[in-house]
Amino acid sequence: MSTPTTYEADTKKLTTEELLTWALQTFSPKRLVLASSFSIEDQLLTWMFLSQEKNARIFTLDTGRLFQETYDVMDYTLQKYNYSCEVGFPDAAELAPVIAREGPNFFRTSVEARKECCRIRKTEPLKKILYTADCWITGLRREQAPTRTSMKRVEWDNNWNIWKINPLLEWSEQEVWEIIHRENIPFNPLQKKGFRSLGCACCTRAIGPDEDIRAGRWWWEDPEHKECGLHKQ
Ligand code: ADX
Ligand code: SF4
Repeated sequence: MSTPTTYEADTKKLTTEELLTWALQTFSPKRLVLASSFSIEDQLLTWMFLSQEKNARIFTLDTGRLFQETYDVMDYTLQKYNYSCEVGFPDAAELAPVIAREGPNFFRTSVEARKECCRIRKTEPLKKILYTADCWITGLRREQAPTRTSMKRVEWDNNWNIWKINPLLEWSEQEVWEIIHRENIPFNPLQKKGFRSLGCACCTRAIGPDEDIRAGRWWWEDPEHKECGLHKQ
């Protein structure tokens, strides 16, 4: 397998669409997966990815605590583009005893409890899906968070031991919206109501115009470290 440096050189000058083509040629479509939370970034990539490969693998992590609007946009997107989405779901045998013991809001009691909830509801299901892939594609953008400044467009993901492609890393939020509107791509209406970053309903709040994009996620935690574990540095 090539080193990260080789892939960086191969892909440096590629446009976003060309990068997806390169990914499909470099990794078998069966071993290449797009992670979608149905955010505007993921919706844009879904549209681009499916236009190149109708059997493209796309998955979502349904934590069981998402907004109704997220389930609605998922429903509508599946119908519009006529594809089936893989779904990662928390293991009931692991989650049920925690909820029985500590209650449904256990994640509010401490940062450790919050991370444990993210582990059960997000990273464990993610691990199972990434186990079936050699490369994953995400909608991460560099400007979203201080934890994302050193990411690369194509990088070896040490957390999951597979390749990771972040095609929209250098895109601005405005550029994403332009394509969403131009191509009539479905989007979550909450994203126009102050939810510029979307996660679980109980851990996301709307933000004001001057606040940081991710200020509404786990708003009670330190911004330098608030990641749920999908994208550890
Ligand atoms: S998170 O780690 O804080 O939740 P964020 O919401 O910024 O991540 O999304 C960054 C990228 O992670 C998304 O573009 C998507 O590729 C992936 N991602 C986040 N949440 C999910 C999810 N529930 N299901 C699948 N992929 C997700
Ligand atoms: Fe649990 Fe909140 Fe993490 Fe969702 S974001 S998995 S509810 S702690």
